[in-house]
Amino acid sequence: MNDGSVRKFYGWFTVLGLLVGLLVVVGYYRDEYREWKDYQRRYVQEEERRASTPQQRAQAALIPIQVRQILLPDLNRVDRCTTCHLTVDDPSYGGYPQPLAYHPLHEQHPFEKFGCTICHRGQGRATTVADAHGNVAHWDEPMLPLRYIQASCGQCHQAADNPGAPELAHGQAVFEERGCRGCHKLGGVGGVIGPELDRVGARRSPDWLKQHFLAPATVTPGSAMPPQKFSESDLEAITLFMLSLTGEGAPGYYASMKVIPSAGEGQRLFQQKGCIGCHSIGNQGGKIGPALDNVGLRRSPEWMIQHFRDPQTVSPGSVMPRFGFTETEARALTDFLLHLRDQKVALSLPSLMGPVERGREVFRKYGCAGCHGQDGKGGVPNPNAKTAQQVPGLTYVADGYTKDELKARILKGQHEIPALDANRPPPPLYMPGWRAAIKDAELDDLVAYLVSLKPKGEDAGF
Ligand code: HEC
Ligand code: HEC
Ligand code: HEC
Ligand code: HEC
Ligand code: HEC
Ligand code: HEC
Repeated sequence: MNDGSVRKFYGWFTVLGLLVGLLVVVGYYRDEYREWKDYQRRYVQEEERRASTPQQRAQAALIPIQVRQILLPDLNRVDRCTTCHLTVDDPSYGGYPQPLAYHPLHEQHPFEKFGCTICHRGQGRATTVADAHGNVAHWDEPMLPLRYIQASCGQCHQAADNPGAPELAHGQAVFEERGCRGCHKLGGVGGVIGPELDRVGARRSPDWLKQHFLAPATVTPGSAMPPQKFSESDLEAITLFMLSLTGEGAPGYYASMKVIPSAGEGQRLFQQKGCIGCHSIGNQGGKIGPALDNVGLRRSPEWMIQHFRDPQTVSPGSVMPRFGFTETEARALTDFLLHLRDQKVALSLPSLMGPVERGREVFRKYGCAGCHGQDGKGGVPNPNAKTAQQVPGLTYVADGYTKDELKARILKGQHEIPALDANRPPPPLYMPGWRAAIKDAELDDLVAYLVSLKPKGEDAGF
C-alpha cells in the first residue's frame, strides 16, 4: 500500500469517529430525557383516565410534556424535582406510587416558595433520578435519607420547639445531656479537644457518623473520642442532630419561623429578660409588679399581647419597661404565662432553683459529663492514664478538696496527665482549664453541685 491510499482511509476514519461520537451523545440524551418524559406521560394518562367529560379529557391531553422548575432566587436555588414529582400539591394523589404522590406538610411550606432541596438536599437542577437524588460520585450533597429528613427543619425553626420535628429535639437533648460540649465547640461554646461541630453535617454521612460514635478509632485511627454507649433511638437522634449542623441558615421570610411561638420559647424569654426581678411566680421573685401565677384568669391573651407591645397603652403610667418584643415573642410570652396555670412549667425556671440544681445545669452546659460521665459517675476511658486508665469520676471530690480548692482545680485544669507506662503514647484526655469560660456565679453553683454528688449519710469531709 502506498501513502496515497492510506490517506484516502483517513477521511473515512474521521467520518466514522464522528458518527460513533454522535450516536453516543444521542443515546445519552435519549436516556436522559426518556426517564422524566415517561413519568409525565403517566401523569397525563392518569389525568385522562380521571376526566369525566370530553372537555376535561381534551384539557388533560394538552398538558405539555416539559421540564418544570421552581425558581428560588432568595434561596439561590433552581429546583426541577417537580419535573417528575408532578403532583406534590394535589391531595387527590395521596398514596400514589412515587414519583406521583401527594406531599405531607405542604400547607405550611408552599412549594412555590420553598422548592424541595431546602429540606431534602439533592441536586435541584438535575432531571434524572440518580442525579437529582444525588447518588452520583462527584456530587457532594446527596439527598437526605427520609429517616433523617427532620435534620433540615433547624435551618428555619428552633430545634426544640417544632412540633413537626421531635427527632431533632431529641438529638439536641442527647447532645447536651452527654456532655459533647466538654470537647467540642458548637456555636462558639464548648471545649477544644475535638473539632468544632458547626458544619459537621455538611462533611459527614449518616453511616460515617454512626460508626464513629460506636467506635471512633475505627474510622479515625488513634481518636481521643471515647466510644459512646447509645440506645438505638439515641444513636439515630444524635446522628440526625449532627446532620442538621450544616452552618446554613435561611434568609428573611424563611427565618421568620426561627421561633414557632410556644410556651418553651416564652419561658426562655422570661428568664432572659429578667421578668422575675419585678414579678413573682410561686411566691418567688420581685414585688414591684403583680404575681403572675394566675394572670391568665385576670387578663385575656389579646390584652397581654398588647401589654407586651407597649405596657402604657393598656396600663397608663406603668413602670414595666417596653421591651420591644417582636409579635412572635409577644405571642410566645403570652403562651407561657397562660400555661402557668397548669403549674408545670414554673418548676424548671432556673431563677427559682437552688444552687445545686443550677450547678447541675452548669455541669451540663459545659459538657463535664463528656469526660467525667453521666452525673460525674466516671467510666470514660483514657488509655494509659495512671488513674485506672479512665478519667476520674467526681462522686467523692468533696472528700479530697475544700470548695476553694475545687474552684481552683477547675479553673486551672491539668494538661499533663500522669501515664501508667512511659513507653506508650500519653493519655489523650486532659482536664481543660475553665478560667476563660465559666463565670464566678456559675462556679459557685457548680461546686455546690459537685459537693452534693457524695451519697447522703456519708460524712462531707469539710
Ligand atoms: C427523573 C425523575 C425524578 C426527579 C427529577 C426527581 N425524582 Fe424523586 N423520585 C423519583 C422516583 C421514580 C422515585 C421513586 C423511586 C425511587 O425512590 O427511586 C422518587 C422518590 C423520591 C423520594 C422518596 C425516597 C424514599 O426513600 O422513599 C424523595 C424524598 C424524592 N424522590 C425527592 C426528590 C427531590 C428532592 C428531587 C429534586 C432534587 C427529586 N426527587 C427529583 C423520580 C424523580
Ligand atoms: C419543609 C420541608 C420540605 C419541603 C420543602 C419538601 N419536602 Fe418532601 N418531605 C418532607 C418531609 C418531612 C417528608 C416525610 C414526611 C413523612 O413523615 O412521611 C417528606 C417526604 C417526601 C417524599 C416521600 C413521601 C413518602 O411518603 O414516601 C417525597 C417523594 C418528597 N418529600 C418529595 C418532595 C418534593 C418533590 C418537594 C418539592 C416539590 C418536597 N418534597 C419539598 C419535607 C419537605
Ligand atoms: C426554609 C425554611 C424552612 C424549613 C427548612 C422548614 N420550615 Fe417549617 N416553616 C417555615 C416558615 C417560613 C413557616 C411559616 C409559613 C407561613 O405561615 O407563612 C413554617 C411553618 C411550619 C409549621 C407551622 C407552624 C405554625 O405555627 O403554624 C410547622 C409545623 C413546620 N413549619 C414544620 C416544619 C418541619 C417539620 C420542617 C422540617 C421537615 C420544616 N418546618 C422545615 C420555614 C421552614
Ligand atoms: C473526651 C472528648 C470528647 C467527647 C466527650 C466527645 N468527643 Fe467527639 N471527638 C473528639 C475528638 C478528639 C475528635 C477528633 C478525632 C475523631 O475524629 O475521632 C472527635 C470527633 C468527633 C466528630 C467528627 C468530627 C469531624 O469533623 O470529623 C463528631 C461528629 C463528634 N466528635 C461528635 C461528638 C458528639 C456528638 C459527642 C457527644 C455524644 C462527642 N463527640 C463527644 C473528642 C470528644
Ligand atoms: C476533655 C475532658 C475533660 C473535661 C471536658 C472536663 N474534665 Fe475534669 N478532668 C479531666 C481529667 C483527664 C482529669 C484527671 C486529671 C488527673 O488525672 O489528675 C480531670 C480532673 C478533674 C477534677 C479533679 C478530680 C480529682 O479526683 O482530683 C475535677 C474536680 C474536675 N475534673 C472537674 C471538671 C468539671 C467541673 C468539668 C466541667 C466544667 C470538667 N472537669 C470537664 C478531664 C476533663
Ligand atoms: C421594672 C419592673 C418590671 C419588669 C422588668 C417587668 N414587669 Fe411586668 N409589670 C410591672 C408592673 C409594675 C406591672 C403592673 C402595671 C401594668 O400592668 O403594666 C406589670 C404588669 C405585668 C403584667 C400584667 C399583670 C396583671 O395582672 O395585670 C404582665 C403579664 C407582665 N407584667 C409580664 C411581664 C413579663 C413577661 C416581663 C418580662 C418580659 C415583665 N413583666 C417585666 C413591672 C415589671
